[in-house]
Amino acid sequence: MSSLRCINCKSDFPTSQRIYTCPKCSSLLDVVYKMNEFQGESLTKLWDERRASTKAIDRSGVWRFRELLPEAGESEIVTMVEGNTQIWDAPRCAKYAGMKRLSFKHLGMNPTGSFKDLGMTTGITQAKRLRATSVACASTGNTSASMAAYAARAGMKAFVFVPSGQIALGKLSQALDYGAIVLQIDGDFDDAMRLVREVANKSPLYLLNSVNPFRLEGQKTIAFEMMQQRDWRAPDRVIVPGGNLGNSSAIAKGFHELLELGLIAKMPKITIVQAEGANPLYRMWARRGDTEGADGQYRDREGADLKLEPVKDATTLATAIKIGAPLSWSKAVRGLRWSEGEVEQVTEQEIADAKAMIGLDGIGCEPASAVTLAGLRKMAPAGGVKPDEDVVAVLTGHVLKDPDYTVNYHAGALGFTGKNGERITLESRYANAFTRVPAERDAIMGVLGF
Ligand code: F0G
Repeated sequence: MSSLRCINCKSDFPTSQRIYTCPKCSSLLDVVYKMNEFQGESLTKLWDERRASTKAIDRSGVWRFRELLPEAGESEIVTMVEGNTQIWDAPRCAKYAGMKRLSFKHLGMNPTGSFKDLGMTTGITQAKRLRATSVACASTGNTSASMAAYAARAGMKAFVFVPSGQIALGKLSQALDYGAIVLQIDGDFDDAMRLVREVANKSPLYLLNSVNPFRLEGQKTIAFEMMQQRDWRAPDRVIVPGGNLGNSSAIAKGFHELLELGLIAKMPKITIVQAEGANPLYRMWARRGDTEGADGQYRDREGADLKLEPVKDATTLATAIKIGAPLSWSKAVRGLRWSEGEVEQVTEQEIADAKAMIGLDGIGCEPASAVTLAGLRKMAPAGGVKPDEDVVAVLTGHVLKDPDYTVNYHAGALGFTGKNGERITLESRYANAFTRVPAERDAIMGVLGF
């Protein structure tokens, strides 16, 4: 049996209650389980056997682990057989970061091209259990694409709030194609997030942003599947991009549960990387003092509780993580504490180059995912990461989500407007520009050097 528990005041609530935050103290909620009911080894055996099954709920890389998910009847589960994403070695990227080896778990290989599908299968299933007929989210693109698809599968209406002109077209096109009602808000993601919460509180719309704890339960299976693929050997470090901070929180919770069950021997260090222009967690982390309070909470250098201060007008070309006021920051901090984790920030140039490098390993990803490699390359030479560490970086979105960014990079035309209105053009250090040729054999032979 699972229940909802406030991460702050520890009050418990039934999972049948339609709440997103604690009704008593407004803090975030977790889904919790009676862990002592499980025997670690029999669980892993069961989970391994399910991989050979032909049933969708067994093959799903989320529902395969359903003992540690909120209970749902088979007929209630809305699945697209998500998960089952590969872990790939990336030798060029390892070299680029100064590491002996590096692997990527590519969550962009999910049905709608991002990790959001893992959380949406559990989120939409919960919506169905609560008999919701319409769902809503604010999004920088991927959440809306995923929610639109899963809502369509479940026969629900989807309402998405996106910042006008600030989401990659691949993602917008998905939400439109899957039949969602798309509201382009004249504002940024933080405005859209605030507004969708206000609307959900005053309407029957069921909110499916990652503040909803049922979303994060699906996403925590990233840790489960990664460990199953690695024979339950935890890496030294897992690197994740940080935007609204739901995913890093979910992955940390997943590893923490496996540790509690004795299925892994250690917590990998959760390392969260943000873009410099959208770095509220990084700034908060830099303010933390040496001491923790008796309650285990971090304090700042003056001894006050460490609190996130939103970044106004967040900017980055990695639009997926263009977020100044992340909702799940307190859960992310908990994950950092559990894992002795770290936070890094990277520049636009570093993101662009790292993305090109991930492409050159034949893998590819959307810009936000590339902060992982950019962060590693920055941390490794500074001694923050040892070259022989066993590191898995989490790629969150597919390379085709944002083709404009990729083509502009290779064409030497990637740039943005700085805080003072000035135009900043990035260097295309690993550009692979295309060549225009006349439609004529000899001209082509000439260009090819034959
Ligand atoms: N990478 C990608 C590709 C994303 O789409 C997001 C978030 C993140 C990383 C950051 O994850 O928010 O859990 O810290 N995208 C959300 C969206 C905000 O609306 O699609 P996070």
